[in-house]
Amino acid sequence: MEKLIVSGGNRLRGTVQISGSKNSALPIIAATLLTAEPCTIRGVPNLSDIQFMCDILKWLSVNVRHHKTDGVVEVHAQHPLGVAPYDLVRKMRASVCLLGPLLARLHNCKVSLPGGCVIGDRPIDQHIKGLKRLGAEVEVQNGYVHARCTELVGTDVFMGGRFGSTVLGTANIIMAATLAKGITYLEGAACEPEIEDLCDFLTKMGAKIKGSGSHMLVIEGVEQLHGAEHTVIPDRIEAGTFMAAAAMTGGDIEIKGARAEHLCAVRDKLEEAGATVHRNNGSIRVQATGLLKPVDVITMPYPGFPTDMQAQMSALMTVTPGISVITEKVFPNRFMHISEMARLGADVSLEGSSAIVKGVRGLSGAPVMASDLRASAGLVIAGLGAEGETEVNRIYHVDRGYEKLDQKLRALGAKIERVAE
Ligand code: EPZ
Repeated sequence: MEKLIVSGGNRLRGTVQISGSKNSALPIIAATLLTAEPCTIRGVPNLSDIQFMCDILKWLSVNVRHHKTDGVVEVHAQHPLGVAPYDLVRKMRASVCLLGPLLARLHNCKVSLPGGCVIGDRPIDQHIKGLKRLGAEVEVQNGYVHARCTELVGTDVFMGGRFGSTVLGTANIIMAATLAKGITYLEGAACEPEIEDLCDFLTKMGAKIKGSGSHMLVIEGVEQLHGAEHTVIPDRIEAGTFMAAAAMTGGDIEIKGARAEHLCAVRDKLEEAGATVHRNNGSIRVQATGLLKPVDVITMPYPGFPTDMQAQMSALMTVTPGISVITEKVFPNRFMHISEMARLGADVSLEGSSAIVKGVRGLSGAPVMASDLRASAGLVIAGLGAEGETEVNRIYHVDRGYEKLDQKLRALGAKIERVAE
């Protein structure tokens, strides 16, 4: 196993290039199962989660070629199998988005339930409800979701759950509805940019989708879809993570490829905190040379402040003088990073789904343990702002979702090394 050694104190300066979006690429790769024709996906980041998805497809007898250095995944799903086993699915929760395309293509599939998750309870009741509305019989048995139908039939489906619209649930129902008979009205759909990207890809495959990017989608089912080529959008959470890192270090960086329109809530909070955020053509520049102010943050579905940026923003607030309140409305228990940040000297108390952060004068480096992908990013950012060495352990979490994070930070002037544990 490897760990990251971060020596804080350096201001980040320079330019960083953002990779393609992991959370766009995963459902888009799953969507290639909807056609027997070859598909080519470009701009795919080289991450372990992408590797897991490709491995599952290969297990389903699908021909997959992953050109890691070029960011290209070619898929040809001529005769996919319909069973995704626990050993593969448990490695990555996003494999739940195989359900929609496998059911639509084969009318009978079994996908293992992924199991527990460190960021909180993650039920899939909304996915199941949606598939049932389209006419599938769905049972959960022996740890598997077994979905079958004679045909899927379009109808109205509401996707809003207790914590807002589900992102992968929306992806599943959209994919299933593309091959359903008749029209599906998807209400309360997630409108994250990754869902819009999925709709763009499906449209290239011949799907008929109206309202992409909104809460109300109208999908007219077609007989079959065809092969397509697509380039995934830049990763807004990777970009947001570099924005927070710039703010943490009093830096000045240009984030190339970042789409400012996907990061309005993050931009708004950093500006409120006192950073300067310029939106250039195809990039975002963050300058944070002055003292920052505390801000209150509430995570929400898009276009609200993303839960996937909560740990990074929490890290920034730990050294911002004053009190900030960070409230989780998407995953109410997603605070595993807080006790690790306390090891660095952060003063944070949890009250229900809120973290009350009292900014301290400085953090001091210590060994910490990454618990999930974004928690790891938060700990790296905390380390960049801490005095001395911070050892971030279990960085396989980082490698699930950040392409070359350490290399990119080093190029911006950070002192960060990857070493064997
Ligand atoms: C996606 O997960 C992302 N994953 C997550 O990113 C992200 O944190 C999350 O959306 C929220 O933005 C991918 O895109 C691969 P949800 P998803 O269903 O779709 C509840 C990262 O770090 N819910 O939108 O699985 C759920 O428990 C990852 O990159 C139900 O109650 O999340 C949560 O409270 C982590 N019933 C809320 O909805 C359901 O059937 C939102 O979850 C489904 C979800």
